[in-house]
Amino acid sequence: MHTRPLPGTDLSLSVLGLGCWAMGGLYWGDDVRDEDSIATVRAALDLGVNWFDTAPLYGEGHADAVLARALGDRRHEVVIATKVGVRARGRHGHAESDLSPAHIRADAEASLRRLGLDCIPLLQIHWPCERGTPLADSLGALVRLQEDGLVRHIGLCNYSAEALREARALAPVVSLQTPLSLLRRAFEGPLQRACVDLGVGALAYEPLCRGLLTGRYQGAVSFPDTDQRSWDERFQGARLRHGQGLTADLARAAARLGVPTAALALGWVIDREGVTAAVVGAKRPAQLRQSAQADRLVGRPRVWSVVDRIASLHGGS
Ligand SMILES: NC(=O)c1ccc[n+]([C@@H]2O[C@H](COP(=O)([O-])OP(=O)(O)OC[C@H]3O[C@@H](n4cnc5c(N)ncnc54)[C@H](OP(=O)(O)O)[C@@H]3O)[C@@H](O)[C@H]2O)c1
Repeated sequence: MHTRPLPGTDLSLSVLGLGCWAMGGLYWGDDVRDEDSIATVRAALDLGVNWFDTAPLYGEGHADAVLARALGDRRHEVVIATKVGVRARGRHGHAESDLSPAHIRADAEASLRRLGLDCIPLLQIHWPCERGTPLADSLGALVRLQEDGLVRHIGLCNYSAEALREARALAPVVSLQTPLSLLRRAFEGPLQRACVDLGVGALAYEPLCRGLLTGRYQGAVSFPDTDQRSWDERFQGARLRHGQGLTADLARAAARLGVPTAALALGWVIDREGVTAAVVGAKRPAQLRQSAQADRLVGRPRVWSVVDRIASLHGGS
């Protein structure tokens, strides 16, 4: 699989990273099984995927445990990107970002223990603070973890262009995890410009729109209450029909190219300016093997003009 340097670091990331959210077993329905997750992580290694994205929130530590078990000693050879800052049950009973220096340190140290690491290769703030800690204080805490040798590189997730510029002036932030897919394109514009100008690598998450862009969800769809897609508006009514229409056209183009629909949707994300890599979820090896075929499409601008035409027929960005 192609790799790309993460700007400003000694890391080289495969164009696809494996996202471990579903492996946590919460919010992704009733068909998540540890043995499938472990097989998926091992398939990722065989496919040349060299980085894995997890978070304390994913199954409240379960995704970390499964990832560490699946990787075994190979956890020291790959890049584990994890996150910091979110309390699963905040003041109002739901997940809340607490970026106080004390919580950042405690959260990072707990991740090190769960993942069986001495140093986290990439530690990302999961989302902006909801408790009023100034950004400078939070970043200061991350820099101290770096100085103590517990963290190699610092990244952010879900920050605006303006906040990214502010953060970059305060600390050596190297990456921004942000949503990007053919059905969620807010990245294009000031945020993309900021990443390119600052040399911050964008890591695009949810590139398959939670599976919608694979073509699997046609016609009427229904999910169990344990699956967040049961309340996701992109899987309901007009928005669902819009996504399905775009995906159907994408599927026809993918068939002509001889690749799975998921691979075409992912390849488009990977080749956006400023994007270092996409982080894709998969519950089973077969899903990841389909997605990994996106690698065959890297650097094919004529393919992207076809996909852009399809997207514009469906209302563009
Ligand atoms: N930083 C953040 O705030 C943030 C937020 C969201 C996500 N992320 C990261 O990004 C990763 C990826 O995002 P995501 O998992 O939310 O969404 P995604 O990658 O767009 O979708 C993943 C889901 O699509 C389905 N799928 C995958 N490949 C498929 C295939 N070939 N054919 C059919 N279905 C397929 C699977 O679910 P089913 O089999 O159930 O359909 C899979 O769990 C996460 O795991 C996480 O690491 C980060």
